[in-house]
Amino acid sequence: MSNSIRKWIFVLTVPVLVVGILGMMGGGAGHGVTLQSANVNFDDKASLQRGAKYYQNYCSGCHSLRFSRFNRVAKDIGLNAENGFSDDDVTTLLNENLIFIRGEDGKKVKVGSLMKTAYNPKAAAEAFGASVPDLSLVGRSRGADWIYSYLNGFYLDPSRPTGMNNTVFKDVGMPHVLGNLQGWQTLDHNKGDEHHGAPKLSLSKPGSMTGAEYDKLTRDITNFLAYVSEPAQLSRKMYGIFTLLFLMVLFGFAYALSKEYWKDIH
Ligand code: HEC
Repeated sequence: MSNSIRKWIFVLTVPVLVVGILGMMGGGAGHGVTLQSANVNFDDKASLQRGAKYYQNYCSGCHSLRFSRFNRVAKDIGLNAENGFSDDDVTTLLNENLIFIRGEDGKKVKVGSLMKTAYNPKAAAEAFGASVPDLSLVGRSRGADWIYSYLNGFYLDPSRPTGMNNTVFKDVGMPHVLGNLQGWQTLDHNKGDEHHGAPKLSLSKPGSMTGAEYDKLTRDITNFLAYVSEPAQLSRKMYGIFTLLFLMVLFGFAYALSKEYWKDIH
C-alpha cells in the first residue's frame, strides 16, 4: 500500500474514533431550551439519601431503576460500614424508608433486589398515553440540569389530558406528581421572549412548600438520579472503548494479512 493511501486511512479513521469517544462521554441534550443549573454533588451524601427517599416515595410507583439494587444504592449513598452502619442497620433502614414493593409471597422484597416499580407497565401506558420510561440512564441521556428544569417546569395547560404541560418536555404524558408540594404554575406568555432565555412561570396557586424548599427537594431527586446513572454509564462507556480498541487491533491484523497476501503480486 502506498504511503499516501496509508495517510488517507489515518486521516479518515482518527476523526471517526475521536467523535465516537467524545459522543460516549458527552450525553445531555438541551434541545435549545435554557436549563436551570442543578449543581449536583455526589459527595453530598445527605442530599443523595434524601433524594433516594423522595424518589422511592414519589416516583418509584411508576418508574423503575432496573440496573440498581437497593443494598448497592444504600452503600453508595453513605449507609455503609465506613459510616458506622452495620448490615442489620442497613436492612432496617431500607425496609423502613426505601423498600415498598412486595414479592409474590406478599412480603417486602429482599435488600438485594432490583429497584423495580410496583406499577404494571402496560396499565401505565394505557393510563398516561405514554409508556413510563426506566430512569436508570436519564441522568446521562437528558443530563442533570434537564431533570431539574423538568421537575420545576410543570405548568397548567387545560388543553392537555393531565391538565399540565412542561417547559422542557412539550406535551408531557406524566402528571405533575409533586404539584401539591410545589403548587401550580402558569406560563406567562407576555413576559420575556420564550425563544431566548428561560420561559417565565408564575405560581398561581401555592403548594405546601416554599419555593426554596421545593428547589431543594427537586435538586436532591436530581442528584440521586444523576448518581444512579453513573455506575451504569461507566460500564456502558467501557464497552464502547473496548469495542473501538478491538476494532483498531482487528484493523492492524487485517492490514498485515492483506499485505502478506499481496506481497508477491506486482
Ligand atoms: C403516575 C406515574 C408517574 C409518576 C409517579 C412519576 N412519573 Fe415520571 N413519567 C411518567 C410518564 C408516563 C412519563 C413519560 C411521559 C411522556 O413520554 O410523555 C414520565 C417521564 C419522566 C421523565 C422523562 C424521561 C425521558 O427521558 O423522557 C423523567 C425525568 C421523569 N418522568 C421523572 C420522574 C420523577 C423524578 C418522578 C418523581 C418525582 C416521577 N417521574 C414520577 C409517569 C410518572
